[in-house]
Amino acid sequence: MNILAIETTCDETAAAVISDTLEVRSSVVASQDELHRRFHGVVPEIAARAHLERILPVIDEALRRAGLRLDELDGIAVAYTPGLAGSLLVGLMAAKTLCLATGKPLLGVNHLHAHIFACRMAAGRDVFPCVGLIVSGGHSSLYRCESAFEFHYLGGTIDDAAGEAFDKVASMLGLPFPGGPALSKVAEQGNPAAHAFPRSFLHDRERLDFSFSGLKTAVRYKIAGVGKPDFSQVTLEPQEVADLAASFQEAVVDCLVSKTLLAVERTGLRTVCVGGGVAANRRFRQRLEAETTAAGITLHIAPPALCTDNAVMGGIAIQCLLAGHSDPLDLDAVPGLVRHK
Ligand code: KG4
Ligand code: ZN
Repeated sequence: MNILAIETTCDETAAAVISDTLEVRSSVVASQDELHRRFHGVVPEIAARAHLERILPVIDEALRRAGLRLDELDGIAVAYTPGLAGSLLVGLMAAKTLCLATGKPLLGVNHLHAHIFACRMAAGRDVFPCVGLIVSGGHSSLYRCESAFEFHYLGGTIDDAAGEAFDKVASMLGLPFPGGPALSKVAEQGNPAAHAFPRSFLHDRERLDFSFSGLKTAVRYKIAGVGKPDFSQVTLEPQEVADLAASFQEAVVDCLVSKTLLAVERTGLRTVCVGGGVAANRRFRQRLEAETTAAGITLHIAPPALCTDNAVMGGIAIQCLLAGHSDPLDLDAVPGLVRHK
């Protein structure tokens, strides 16, 4: 059995073909970075229109690479929540139309569940139950994941997501969008101890929460001077940019690593899975790998291409198909975060 999985929650148009043994038969990702670069962030209307142009060629290419025709598929999976409304609708309408035309079952995918399932896809073996950390442009949350579908919220950001903070700080430093990869590259030349930036809740062992907005403001004041948010006239030397980037990154990494270890302690689980674009960050991966190894905890982080948005993680829908579950064709896009049971 094979499914086609479609992913259009934000600004990546992606499709993949996955077998019932979770073998990836093809994966195509069309990035929209070029279109959003001059705005230093994703513009929802532009994202939706770009998805519309790309969705059919991306699906065609995924099928071609897998060597399958539409009628040879056993189901069509699509991410329907959470995400940008216009972006979600494009993928969902494409999937529903193909289901209507072919009579194949529709399989709705929760994008957050899928980000953790990317670890299962990469590991090639069961990873549940685990502590799940999702760190992306829209989310920074910790879950107790009983299974691929049963997530219990433990804590998360009370303001900006980690990826959002990377993108905004990168923009302040004059680095290109998306900020995460650009900032982490520059940070390699910087001193992570150059600036003592705030680490919210770091020593609060009662909370499994994050807050990155104060950190973002601290970087802004460091560039412009306290109380002077306008830094348009400030010119930074390359080494200053590198030191600011490295110090900011270290503060984010400290918070993510320490709260993940606290979640492990609280839940008693011995496995950690991390998904979302920020999980592609090299410094974060190194630090989490070192600290989980030292504590004897099993860590699964997918390779970088499966951390950022992709359709391979839609392989989570295979389990639904095998269990005989499918969704009605009036399945709606749910842009906001669904409360997990
Ligand atoms: O998971 P994702 O592709 O999309 C969302 O669901 O949001 O994550 C995108 C986010 C962006 O904020 C991007 O800057 C960040 O992940 N990101 C990184 C890195 N690669 C992507 N952040 C830090 N370091 C990276 N290497
Ligand atoms: Zn994502």
